[in-house]
Amino acid sequence: MEQLIIDTSSREYPVYIGEGLLHRSAELLASVLEGKSRALIISDSNTAPLYAETVRDSLEPLLSVHIHTLQAGEHSKSLEGYDQVMTACINARLDRHSVILALGGGMVGDLAGFAAATYMRGISFVQMPTTLLAQDSSVGGKTGINHPLGKNLIGAFHQPEAVLYDTDTLASLPDKEWRSGFAEMIKHAVIKDPDLLVRLRTEVQNTEDMKKDSLKQFLKQSMTVKADIVKEDEREAGVRAFLNFGHTLGHALEKASGYKDLTHGEAVAAGMIFAMKVSNYLQYSEWDTAAETAWFKALGYPVEAPAAFEPAALVETMKSDKKARAGELTFVLAASPGKPFLANVEERDILHLLSEMKKGECRDD
Ligand SMILES: NC(=O)c1ccc[n+]([C@@H]2O[C@H](COP(=O)([O-])OP(=O)(O)OC[C@H]3O[C@@H](n4cnc5c(N)ncnc54)[C@H](O)[C@@H]3O)[C@@H](O)[C@H]2O)c1
Ligand SMILES: [Zn+2]
Repeated sequence: MEQLIIDTSSREYPVYIGEGLLHRSAELLASVLEGKSRALIISDSNTAPLYAETVRDSLEPLLSVHIHTLQAGEHSKSLEGYDQVMTACINARLDRHSVILALGGGMVGDLAGFAAATYMRGISFVQMPTTLLAQDSSVGGKTGINHPLGKNLIGAFHQPEAVLYDTDTLASLPDKEWRSGFAEMIKHAVIKDPDLLVRLRTEVQNTEDMKKDSLKQFLKQSMTVKADIVKEDEREAGVRAFLNFGHTLGHALEKASGYKDLTHGEAVAAGMIFAMKVSNYLQYSEWDTAAETAWFKALGYPVEAPAAFEPAALVETMKSDKKARAGELTFVLAASPGKPFLANVEERDILHLLSEMKKGECRDD
């Protein structure tokens, strides 16, 4: 088992990464559960049937455990989903000394975390991630739900008491979701861990390689990057913004594709290649974008996705992004691995690069 400690100004908590951990929930969460009499497992229709009983069996000798199952999919991370979870909390008679266990991917983690942040003005919660992407979402304390007018617009900072990452759960994860999570791992490596980037490039050439034994180490290194950034900047006043590398265009692509065809990580992967092109174009860097593109394609990422959309429409979306200030285009760029920075980029430069991609004239890939 790998272990790391997340240290933030509001809380210090452990992350356990390894096989068979759900069976050991009672033992690993002993200190969190001390003095607690009730727990509510929040899970979704894909993860609950596979894993919720294991957690309940482990915990039941210690406290009473309820399970609430949401319909799988991002649409549950909504006001309606939140309403449902609040009702489940009340029905399970949770009180301020109860704990919510978020058993699932980022959708469950964000919603259950937000429920924990707000139910009775805040109760404890534990993240039990079951997707590769949740290595990113399960630490850092950002919780929230979507509104019909925008993603993640309603939320709170609320750190979990522990993160219990049972890598056995990844065995049932579809390949598309593996790729989605792996993109965030590449992102962590690009912004803060050049050695990890070298290892990922040499050891992972396709989706099957993502599942090798080295995964646990990769996860630990990747989550350490997130932990370090969150420690420095819990509330995103500065360096935490670097975690948005690839996300400016990534979010626009997700929106343009109606949140259907592209997973979050696939869109971010296309966004990362684009950010490297922007960095090069503005002469901040010399990324070998041809080589990066070839690697990303081998991993199955749709790096040409931007070409399917109108450049002007993508730019408009990027300007209205929640993180954009006063309609400016802000990008996280990188001079080289481990050297990210924020830059305001001229609209015409972005339009130019997107148009080049659309015309298929980008000679470097
Ligand atoms: N809070 C943060 O800091 C943060 C960071 C990044 C992303 N997010 C959020 O995370 C969400 C995306 O997370 P996600 O990609 O994990 O999505 P998800 O939770 O919707 O999971 C993706 C799909 O995989 C299924 N699944 C989950 N675990 C499985 C398993 N072990 N076996 C089989 N199927 C499984 C789910 O049911 C779902 O269909 C978004 O809502 C995003 O906004 C939050
Ligand atoms: Zn992301």
